[in-house]
Amino acid sequence: MHSYDAVVIGAGAAGLFCAGIAGQAGARVLVIDHSAKVAEKIRISGGGRCNFTNRDAGPANFLSDNPRFCRSALARYTPQDFIALVQRHRIAWHEKHKGQLFCDESAEDIIAMLLRECDQGRVTRWQPCGVQAVRQAGAAFEVDTDRGVVRSARVVVATGGLPVPQIGATDFGLRLARQFGHRIIETRPALVPLTFDSAAWAPFVPLAGLSLPVTIRTGPAKGGGEFLEDLLFTHRGLSGPAVLQISSYWRGGTPITIDLAPGQALGTALREAKLASRRKVGNELLRFLPARLAEAWLGEEPGLSDRPIAETKDKDLDRLAASLQSWQLTPSGTEGYRKAEVMAGGVDTQGLSSQTLESRSVPGLHFIGEVVDVTGWLGGYNFQWAWASGAACGRAIGAAAAADRA
Ligand code: FDA
Repeated sequence: MHSYDAVVIGAGAAGLFCAGIAGQAGARVLVIDHSAKVAEKIRISGGGRCNFTNRDAGPANFLSDNPRFCRSALARYTPQDFIALVQRHRIAWHEKHKGQLFCDESAEDIIAMLLRECDQGRVTRWQPCGVQAVRQAGAAFEVDTDRGVVRSARVVVATGGLPVPQIGATDFGLRLARQFGHRIIETRPALVPLTFDSAAWAPFVPLAGLSLPVTIRTGPAKGGGEFLEDLLFTHRGLSGPAVLQISSYWRGGTPITIDLAPGQALGTALREAKLASRRKVGNELLRFLPARLAEAWLGEEPGLSDRPIAETKDKDLDRLAASLQSWQLTPSGTEGYRKAEVMAGGVDTQGLSSQTLESRSVPGLHFIGEVVDVTGWLGGYNFQWAWASGAACGRAIGAAAAADRA
């Protein structure tokens, strides 16, 4: 029988990072993944350039049933720590929008870095290799794999979330959590485009491809979300960073509210224009909105577009402004796990130590990364959680292995 200090299931972002740290701290670590390739999600992330962290990542950028849980791991492994690692490996990077850091060249650079870190820790990797079962055996675990039974003091579940099943995502981690008595916070696709009933969406189909900055919000004032980002109209609904962000906060059957002219006092501006302008309402609106959107919007209000603004009633201008600045609509659903970037929900953090990501009820069993109920915003936050939770767990495994040997 094979024997290790720790078996990490899942050679993705969190699993590889954790394994490297634990191995370098002296633990004998085996990483197993059922895919032939490591870290497929890193490979396709950030349009192939991997938005590997966010300079400003903090607990406020994460959703969880237990929002305080992520604090400890995020504080003990920060974006600056990961930037220092990337620089040590001489990977060139640049900052984009709102603190988002990307590789200059390729996401492959991050994967190669993680593998070098694993090599330095003498980590063994089995791929492709299926895992059939995990069970407790005395104070340790036995893991049934395609290459035989492995005995290990610790098992780390790093199998990620449900999005993009076509590149290896499975519910294995969630099933294992349930098997060991852990509660699962209901899972749902997040960072995902929103869809609408085809009849309700028909007037907006001609806008497919149009993008503009908006303010978008959903949910209660406390606990809901609000973002100022770009919105993209699609054939089936709405996408773009604004909608991906708000999708994580959206609950089925509830509305979202969009301000299509953020930062403008549209009602006041139209009333002022009425006093001085000889233009038509449709032309006046072009000062505030892209032409395609203004046309589509006024198409819903017969006669208004061609009416001189000077002859338009204040109440009609106010109604128009309000419809544009608090556009309320109820999505029928999302594009699902096929298009989602991340899974919200997952292993309930109440059952885990925030210091070590170890199960409170099953000593030696850890859950890290996306399988845990900690979900980041769009913009490098989910990888930062993978690194931070992986580091917290990897250090704990290294310390435990050292203690066992002492
Ligand atoms: P991850 O998914 O990385 O790894 C899980 C591993 O477990 C995989 O290798 C899988 O094969 C393996 N596995 C699954 N089931 C198994 C089983 N039964 N047996 C054995 N192995 C199994 N985030 C971000 O911060 N910046 C970004 O730019 C992007 N971009 C992005 C683009 C796209 C298209 C997607 C889908 C996602 C992103 N993300 C992102 C999110 C980010 O990729 C994600 O949150 C992390 O990869 C999660 O890391 P984990 O290690 O938890 O899972």
